[in-house]
Amino acid sequence: MRRVVVDLASPRPVWNAPPSALRAIRRAFGRGWTVVPVRAGASSDGVGGAGTAAAMAAASGAEVYIGWGVPSGVAAAAHGTLRWAHTAAAGVGASITPVFRATGARLTNSRGVHAEPMGDWVVTAIGFCLRGFHNAVEAQRARRWAKGPFTDGTVRVREFAGTRVGLVGLGGIGRAVARRCRALGMDVSAVRRTPTRRLPRGVRWVGGPDDLITLARRSDVLVIAAPHTARTTCLVDRHVLAALPRGAYVVNVARGELLDESALLAALDRHLGGAVLDVFDREPLPRDHPLWTHPRVMISPHVSGVTDRFWERETALIVDNARRYRGGRRLRNLVNLDREY
Ligand SMILES: NC(=O)c1ccc[n+]([C@@H]2O[C@H](COP(=O)([O-])OP(=O)(O)OC[C@H]3O[C@@H](n4cnc5c(N)ncnc54)[C@H](OP(=O)(O)O)[C@@H]3O)[C@@H](O)[C@H]2O)c1
Repeated sequence: MRRVVVDLASPRPVWNAPPSALRAIRRAFGRGWTVVPVRAGASSDGVGGAGTAAAMAAASGAEVYIGWGVPSGVAAAAHGTLRWAHTAAAGVGASITPVFRATGARLTNSRGVHAEPMGDWVVTAIGFCLRGFHNAVEAQRARRWAKGPFTDGTVRVREFAGTRVGLVGLGGIGRAVARRCRALGMDVSAVRRTPTRRLPRGVRWVGGPDDLITLARRSDVLVIAAPHTARTTCLVDRHVLAALPRGAYVVNVARGELLDESALLAALDRHLGGAVLDVFDREPLPRDHPLWTHPRVMISPHVSGVTDRFWERETALIVDNARRYRGGRRLRNLVNLDREY
């Protein structure tokens, strides 16, 4: 029997695969396949690691592995038999280890699966910034009725309509953000790795990675939604931040490694309006990190992708790819191991 290992149990209930997902995966592989669920909770944070002992034991002799990333111990245990690995996360930096490369297996990820909830989250973050909520929250903590700063022009309050949004990355998440921003009257531009002439719906201008400074100059809000790769580490550095107009905002939902956090703090003191951050260079963010207490930084604990519809979409992707795999057809969401996304 050919073997599939499903390592999608998580101690975090929203990321824990429900029994219906396992049943659907079993049906999709069908006869001739054994689907082996790993009951030990895997790390759903996409941080890599070796994997649980139970996952490593199950992976020995497996042809397909479906998990939260591809832990290095799992890749090592499945060496020689592994042909396809799928990660329920979108980020694959921690999965593309030398030991995984050595298996020669294909890797698929869950890019786009998180796009809808994250599009909602980013638009909420933009509204938070534009309506001066940073200042309202700070005043509330001090029990201060801050009508003065909101009515004397100290707090700059803007409308969605006409706000210029710059997207770093125009994949599943970037496009979901673009559609929403456009519908609210915002002016959307972007940079992506491979700019094409055909503009996605709702986007006015698209440049390549070398156009990031140009994008920053014309952005009231810069949204970071690109993968973490060798080329994107510290992509949004002090030069990019310096190019943002006075009072601009930064929203990061990608990975902390893309944003120079020290440069962000300096730019906040110099000319930026504020930031909303879901991801950090070190997670959990250390308790003594200055970002925690900055009055114009809103922090959320890497949860922008949370939704009650995750398993519906993720299961549909896995099931479709299981059928494709069985039929020898091209898999969806294949990761380019050289590009690292
Ligand atoms: N906070 C969370 O909970 C959470 C949840 C899901 C995902 N994420 C993060 O968000 C990232 C994006 O997710 P996605 O689903 O939108 O991925 P995606 O569909 O693969 O899109 C990635 C986008 O980034 C662009 N890109 C790649 N390298 C670039 C570079 N050097 N400069 C500028 N743009 C570049 C790509 O360009 P092309 O279009 O030209 O290929 C593409 O538009 C993931 O990799 C993950 O790290 C975070």
